Amino acid sequence: MTSRYRVEYALKTHRRDQFIEWIKGLLAVPFVLYSQPTGIFDETNGFNISQSSEEAHRRYAEIMRDIEVMVDDHITHQLDASRVPSKLKLLVPTIGNFFTRLPLEAAFKFQDRKRYISSRRFVSPSFNDVRLILNTAQLMAVTTHGTLRLATFDGDVTLYDDGESLEPSSPVVPRIIDLLRKNVKVGIVTAAGYTTADRYYARLHGLLDAIASSTALTPQQRQGIIIMGGEANYLFEFSPSSPHLLASVPRERWLTPEMAAWSDAGIAALLDIAEAALRDCVKNLNLPATIMRKDRAVGVVPRDPSLRIPRESLEETVLVVQKTLELSTRGRDFENQVVPFCAFNGGRDVFVDIGDKSWGVSVCQAWFGSDDSNGTGAGAGRIRPEQTLHVGDQFLSAGSNDFKARSVSTTAWIASPAETVELLDELADFMGKKLS
Ligand code: IMP
Ligand code: MG
Repeated sequence: MTSRYRVEYALKTHRRDQFIEWIKGLLAVPFVLYSQPTGIFDETNGFNISQSSEEAHRRYAEIMRDIEVMVDDHITHQLDASRVPSKLKLLVPTIGNFFTRLPLEAAFKFQDRKRYISSRRFVSPSFNDVRLILNTAQLMAVTTHGTLRLATFDGDVTLYDDGESLEPSSPVVPRIIDLLRKNVKVGIVTAAGYTTADRYYARLHGLLDAIASSTALTPQQRQGIIIMGGEANYLFEFSPSSPHLLASVPRERWLTPEMAAWSDAGIAALLDIAEAALRDCVKNLNLPATIMRKDRAVGVVPRDPSLRIPRESLEETVLVVQKTLELSTRGRDFENQVVPFCAFNGGRDVFVDIGDKSWGVSVCQAWFGSDDSNGTGAGAGRIRPEQTLHVGDQFLSAGSNDFKARSVSTTAWIASPAETVELLDELADFMGKKLS
């Protein structure tokens, strides 16, 4: 029984997004009932392709509207914690909280025009169709129904390919500058943890140089971008006069009171346990890798860039180190709370970082929340979750660092830098429509 549970857990649960799978299952029913695969060889019996796709479209849209109503009901329940769970919570037990309602019917119609979902007769609505519909609904919600004030972006896979950097020719660059021009603040919230500006400049130079030379931005808008590295450990602000266009901001200017309570001893103890667990994995799984210990992180990286650690070994390592840390009683702060950490599979490596992106995005919300966003840091106000959008690629629950941002902001889940570009175009479109 135990081992069966472990197999189910290790192989399935953390690799499924239950909400998306559930929506996919609901859409599969009209797909089976109304799509007409025989139409390609049988044009008799008054069969009409456009009628069948219209019918599928109508049924899919109805389902999305029903889910939209269920999300509204769930939001009412989450506002009143003492009430019984919502129907959605009973149907999808892992569902979290929503910061905005989701216009799913309109988002479906938008994506159907782009992806011809209802015209397909052999391929049912897929995981990616549903993921993109949810992204569109979230963009509609933060623009048409609200006001977006902060967009945060993950680095690897979101802004550039894994391990690469943001080059001047990247189509993401003008789109991020456009956000700044519209006074939307930008945070690059990456796990990549470096203590010096030159390393971040190396990864982000295409964007930083473009901001420095842009004639479209006012000096104040140029200060609308910050880099939050190591999940929530190193903050850099834009600084036109600094050698790498970035200036490191001392921790005392931006740590939230909770973060300031994480003791150095607690952090070191947690990283020691993580390091020991990672060393065991390198040995037991015979990984072609070395341990990289930093002041706020510890990782397993390939011994040589040409070597690849198998995906299964990366996942096993994440789950081992995560469980070991969860069960350990050391690594506590002054209040005797366990210092938060994030263990994740980075695609080629595994890292355990102190803190996670929920803290990183939260710091951005506080930094830009005060009216004079150019320096006083965690001031009076903070940008609210429903005014924030985090864009990232890692959202499957175990060891996915962008997933953590969901507790403090709305999110969009992309699968490649090309999808980020499409998403930013959609966003600009919705923002433009709102203005006109
Ligand atoms: P992200 O996608 O921007 O969050 O970057 C994740 C990648 O950054 C990881 O897969 C690592 O390859 C790299 N990285 C470099 N330094 C660190 C660190 O200190 N912690 C976590 N990841 C790091
Ligand atoms: Mg990433």
